[in-house]
Amino acid sequence: MFRRPGGIEIKTDAQLARMREAGLVVADALRRCAEASVAGTTTRELDVVAARTLQEHGAQSSFLGYYGYPAVLCVSVNDEVVHGIPGDRVLGEGDLVSIDFGAIVDGWHGDAAISVAVGAVPEEIADLSRTTRDALWAGLSAARPGGRLTDVGAAVEETVRSADRGYGILRDYVGHGIGSRMHMEPAVANFGPPGRGPKLKPGMAIAVEPMVTLAGPDVFVHADEWTVSTVDRSYASHWEHTVAITEEGPWVLTAEDGGADFFARNGIPSPAAVAGN
Ligand code: MF3
Ligand code: CO
Repeated sequence: MFRRPGGIEIKTDAQLARMREAGLVVADALRRCAEASVAGTTTRELDVVAARTLQEHGAQSSFLGYYGYPAVLCVSVNDEVVHGIPGDRVLGEGDLVSIDFGAIVDGWHGDAAISVAVGAVPEEIADLSRTTRDALWAGLSAARPGGRLTDVGAAVEETVRSADRGYGILRDYVGHGIGSRMHMEPAVANFGPPGRGPKLKPGMAIAVEPMVTLAGPDVFVHADEWTVSTVDRSYASHWEHTVAITEEGPWVLTAEDGGADFFARNGIPSPAAVAGN
């Protein structure tokens, strides 16, 4: 049973435990896909690695069949930002690859994405990916009770802007609530002023997913009706985690350590600091 204040699903502890299981499947799959992302690998091979991981854990895919989506993974290379369909494309040295994956355990979802550099990439590409990941963790850090929803996007934007590289932040795609479905209320923008929107409450869970480009923020959808690329063909990075808001602070369900390491280093209270989470 759950209450839905303002339309946002509130999870019980038992439901969050299922989401944690799904999150750990996602973490495992993404770690394996990152290891497999070497020059000469096709994006379809990464999809196979992810599908095998689901099978081993007895979990289901959040993506396969979602509005007809044909794979368990999204693999988006260079100027592709999100929703790239795995296929015959061969990864090459210098590519920046967004790998996005979702899993379901007992009906509860986890969703995360990483950007992986294939071999050596130019320093400006590495910086883009680092900044996007830092922005993700700034957003996750703001996912605490007592805060408001737009604190998350404001923290993401602040991190991207303070890099001072003229990066673009996508306006057309945002993060989302998650739980008994992959995409739920609320929409989680990666920009805008803090202190607005619903109050963050224990039992809520959101997927924070900054999508940041080397230049302009405008994107288009390819003829395959899925792949999203930058209009100016500038490289893009995408990082995502599913985070639960708890009484004790943010709990990053799709991070192997729940966020313990990052939050401890930054003095942010989190239940992940407690052994076993
Ligand atoms: N994981 C994506 C997101 O973060 C959604 C993937 S679209 C799908 O929202 F069709 F592949 F499922
Ligand atoms: Co998502």
